[in-house]
Amino acid sequence: MKRVKFVAGNWKMNTTRASAVALAKAIAKGAVAGVTLGVAPPFVYIDAVGQALAGSPVLLGAQDVYPQPNGAFTGEISVEMLKDLGVAFCLTGHSERRHILLESSDLVAAKARAVYAGGLTLIHCVGEKIEQRDAGQTLAVVQAQLDEIRGGIEGPKRLVTAYEPVWAIGTGRNATDAQAQEVHAFIRESITRMWNRDFADRVRIQYGGSMKPDNARGLLSQGDVDGGLIGGASLKADSFLAIAAAAL
Ligand code: PGA
Repeated sequence: MKRVKFVAGNWKMNTTRASAVALAKAIAKGAVAGVTLGVAPPFVYIDAVGQALAGSPVLLGAQDVYPQPNGAFTGEISVEMLKDLGVAFCLTGHSERRHILLESSDLVAAKARAVYAGGLTLIHCVGEKIEQRDAGQTLAVVQAQLDEIRGGIEGPKRLVTAYEPVWAIGTGRNATDAQAQEVHAFIRESITRMWNRDFADRVRIQYGGSMKPDNARGLLSQGDVDGGLIGGASLKADSFLAIAAAAL
């Protein structure tokens, strides 16, 4: 099954309004056909970045969302608000939200359901901490995080999962090609059990965690690695576009 690879930049809490717009424009200018590209700026720059991307194929994304449609939820942003700005995809379960912002699995699951039900593409992130890997718990941790998307997903088109080993995020220590492929193959098998083979064949599974231009080709050539979720290397158009080129 040939899946079009999806390379998404997670800008985290970086950029200024001006640098976000400049980065978006440079990425839009360098975007090539044959790979899906997306960027997830900080909330406050989504509108400006969306305008900078107008007319380009680069998808606009959000790093987070709140599951309720509206109401007294100080500081939070709904799916409808994101859609109002032209957002096409939203992350859930990113390790920084799980481990720094202490989001529970229930909250992550509610966010994932809201993103999918609202018509956006869901990028659901899973991944183990180093002590869990060392204890041989990697696949069990990943399965528990996949269980968060068990309800409410009707088709594979708007579902993306991202395998992001926590120990690889922002550390410069990426998973090896074989480590990534092992977990990606497990995720696809697990999705086969949760839905069916055809569904699993269509779902894109991104790798994230210190993916850079010099390691992207090896990772992206693994049979079950269908793209990347890029943090640090997405903050420069050159390196982000080099990773996109490695996905072709
Ligand atoms: P990194 O971040 O590329 O800086 O390791 C990846 C991510 O958190 O999505």
